[in-house]
Amino acid sequence: LTNKENLESFIRNERHDFSKGAIEQSSLMSNPADQLKAWLKDAIDNNLPEPYAVALATSANNKPTTRIVYVRGFMEESMVFYTNYNSKKGKELAENPSASLCFYWAEAQRQVRVEGTVQKAPKKLSDEYFASRPRQSQIGAWASEQSENMRSRAELEEKIQLYTNKFKDTDVPRPDFWGGYIFTPHYYEFWQGRTNRLHDRITYSKEENNWKVTRLFP
Ligand SMILES: Cc1cc2nc3c(=O)[nH]c(=O)nc-3n(C[C@H](O)[C@H](O)[C@H](O)COP(=O)(O)O)c2cc1C
Repeated sequence: LTNKENLESFIRNERHDFSKGAIEQSSLMSNPADQLKAWLKDAIDNNLPEPYAVALATSANNKPTTRIVYVRGFMEESMVFYTNYNSKKGKELAENPSASLCFYWAEAQRQVRVEGTVQKAPKKLSDEYFASRPRQSQIGAWASEQSENMRSRAELEEKIQLYTNKFKDTDVPRPDFWGGYIFTPHYYEFWQGRTNRLHDRITYSKEENNWKVTRLFP
């Protein structure tokens, strides 16, 4: 910010136009999972930062919460992310398996919103993924009671030490309270920024076994 500007006037007045692309309905893939993968691949090929990071919304008792997680895999039409099952999101998903993901690739001027439901991943899948993580992350999973109150950073460091000693001579097993969720979408919206806020928005809704495609006003 320059001396003349303050934060509030900056965020109020800063504007840019979106002009990098457009969505032609004719060139869209018939399966939205393939379309998402195509956009994700574009983001990766263009070296965009954290292309597979998504905002994950969950909701229990009509109180939505969000946080970023990494999508770590695709399974047919589903996506997989990993977390602590006892975390806030884990508890919310146990109560209400409906969830929503939002990808945002600022450089590409693209957003993808996805709505669906989750189920816990099969143990084998979580085991395999856990085994592929760096050892320090594996120990961290044991040490972190994700989303619980902690007295101080020292409490975490003590627990890291404890589990480092415990698993000194062995592979670190996956804790039962840590693993994957398989998120199965029933609705997608692909958003591409256009000039004058006249953006393109294309949705896919699952009807029986088909995906119905529609266009929304921006
Ligand atoms: C870029 C980024 C990636 C993240 N990836 C994950 C992830 O894959 N799994 C996870 O449990 N938390 C991840 N986090 C941390 C979560 O945002 C969050 O702090 C944590 O999961 C606790 O959320 P909860 O209290 O709502 O359960 C990530 C955070 C950021 C900023």
